[in-house]
Amino acid sequence: MKLLDGKICAESLVADVAVKVNGYIASGLRKPHMTVILVGDHAPSESYVKSKIVSCRKAGFDSALLRFPETVSESELLAAITAINADPSTDGLIVQLPVPQHINPQNIINAIAPEKDIDGFHPTNFGRMTLGQKAFRPATAYGICKLLQFYEITVKGKHCVVIGRSNIVGKPISIMLSNDFDIGNATVTLTHIETPRELLLDETRRADIIVVAVGIPGFVTEDMVKEGVVMIDVGINRLENGSLVGDVDFTRVSSKCSWITPVPGGVGRMTVAALMINTLMAYQNNFDLT
Ligand code: GUN
Repeated sequence: MKLLDGKICAESLVADVAVKVNGYIASGLRKPHMTVILVGDHAPSESYVKSKIVSCRKAGFDSALLRFPETVSESELLAAITAINADPSTDGLIVQLPVPQHINPQNIINAIAPEKDIDGFHPTNFGRMTLGQKAFRPATAYGICKLLQFYEITVKGKHCVVIGRSNIVGKPISIMLSNDFDIGNATVTLTHIETPRELLLDETRRADIIVVAVGIPGFVTEDMVKEGVVMIDVGINRLENGSLVGDVDFTRVSSKCSWITPVPGGVGRMTVAALMINTLMAYQNNFDLT
């Protein structure tokens, strides 16, 4: 079993971004700029946003964090997004999810200008990505692809099983791995909460690559996988004792895997790195750079 080290890969990708940014600054351009909107005091979001801001600094970007209280109204949030959309000093905008119950996340996502939507969640970007057109690709899914590429794991021709159909991870990764992309051309099965158990087991037991994003500690057990599987664990679950674990029973499953992502230090790191790549792309689009 070998580890797919998201920390090493992310550091390498962010360093590549920083080299490009240094070149642009040397030629007299301003730094790329990412704005993050954070609503309320959801503890995991606090930590994700912090790592995004730290990564901006490493990439040579400026960043701004706009905080709103839990009680902010949807219209106030929409007004803030509209203002940032019109501000030429911001290249990329993300609204950290989840937002409070009284706010419809789809209304928020739809309000972000597609050219600033570095999360790749806006219907325009999601649609373009699905059609194989140039688009911001959803950061976690894109990060997974970059991780597979970094470790030279062939995806083309493989049987991939995705567990979980969220708009953030499961749905986009299933499309990206099956599309005719540089990291793609796999045969993909998307399974979800309504997949009958027997069918799920049939699929996972013959999978070459499994991507699991269900948010349930220990969901993937040893009996569900074949020897040599590549395991991508997107889960980040905090247990009562304070430790962080993924969706895979790492202790038992890892010995059957050819490759596996650790939690923490796996996919989470890659989400942030992919966001930096997307922000650089937004900036390059802004300034007509290639
Ligand atoms: N919450 C969990 N993952 C993400 C993500 O990739 N982007 C945003 N904006 N919020 C999230």
